[in-house]
Amino acid sequence: MTKSVLINRIGELVTNAPGDAGAADAAGPGAGGGLGRFALINDAALVIEGDRIVWTGPSDRGPAADESVDAAGRAVLPGFVDSHAHLVFAGERSAEFAARMAGRGYAAGGIRSTVAATRAATDAELRAGLRRLAAEMLAQGTTTFECKSGYGLTVEDEARSVALAAEATDEVTYLGAHVVPAEFEGDAGAYVDLVRGPMLDACAPHARWVDVFCERGAFSVDEARAVLTAGQARGLIPRIHASQLGPGEGVQLAVELGAASADHCTFLTDADVDALAGAAPSPTSAGTAGTVATLLPGAEFGTRQPYPDARRLLDAGATVALATDCNPGSSYTSSMPFCIALAVRDMHMTASEAVWAATAGGALALRRGDVGYLAPGARADLIMLDAPSHTYLAYRPGVPLVHDVWQSGMRQPH
Ligand code: NIG
Ligand code: FE
Repeated sequence: MTKSVLINRIGELVTNAPGDAGAADAAGPGAGGGLGRFALINDAALVIEGDRIVWTGPSDRGPAADESVDAAGRAVLPGFVDSHAHLVFAGERSAEFAARMAGRGYAAGGIRSTVAATRAATDAELRAGLRRLAAEMLAQGTTTFECKSGYGLTVEDEARSVALAAEATDEVTYLGAHVVPAEFEGDAGAYVDLVRGPMLDACAPHARWVDVFCERGAFSVDEARAVLTAGQARGLIPRIHASQLGPGEGVQLAVELGAASADHCTFLTDADVDALAGAAPSPTSAGTAGTVATLLPGAEFGTRQPYPDARRLLDAGATVALATDCNPGSSYTSSMPFCIALAVRDMHMTASEAVWAATAGGALALRRGDVGYLAPGARADLIMLDAPSHTYLAYRPGVPLVHDVWQSGMRQPH
């Protein structure tokens, strides 16, 4: 028989589930389905059976279970869903970061130095780096993460990147169109043909998603469309790096193609904001439709760019996710709590909006109906904080507040 675990005396249980008391300032889709707006239950309990949540409610009504855990007033929230990360790479670029902090700008071309290091690395070295970052994420409460290729940029090196990523997560993204590699300098067309042809053939079996860096210095909107539609024809779902370094057409392309997410969204036009508001997914469509605006404040922190205007997106009705963009160039953080703190302090999101975006928002950006919320049927992925409320994630920035993490019902050692 499957063992049940009761976690009781939870000071504040963030559920993101319709039917639970919603916070007044909450953002997100309306009630319906498993996942809803930001919502929480004070003085709560929950029951895990196997890898699922089977019950949530008031602490004094918690049913009997095989084992019980006393939360002693701590807050519990859904595990973070990091829907944007680049974890298969070798080397580091701290000198580039230091130069930026001394006044230099960020350019897409820096990717090439990580490409050279990644090509030179063994599979074992890449695997070890990926595992180290995945362990960092888990220790900070991330129980689901997406992982992109994009630092190989040959058929062989992209294929091994997606294969390695698939060892660590189900959410694998083929990003052969990250930058035009040096050996194709001046012949982007030939490189795009490779990306949408033989490289796609080699990578599609290991991937769920296809992504393009649609930006000045990387790929044009027409090149992006060519790669993403080729990916769609192979059964991959598009997501796009768009408007990170300046305004562009990437967001419109994301909505046109039904991409799951447009990521970065740092320089948006009014038309972009309208398009994202019009394409906001509803929770009942978590598995099928809608385009999320995924904001990556670690990248603005690491490049000293202005932060994206989260309020403008939220006020217009767009669905916002927060993710780390963990990569050695623009955002070398694996910490969702850090991104939440930045979003609250510098992007004017409320703590509830930021926590929702880092959990339910990420789930919608990955079209997952089983994570990002805590209600019967959800995967038992949860974080217990050493704090009485989710607000502490921004109120006590930089402090390791993650006390315990359960992933698929298993309490993680720490
Ligand atoms: O999301 N924008 C493109 N890709 C990464 C940066 C990659 C790099 O600089 O190595 C990003 O910021
Ligand atoms: Fe990225």
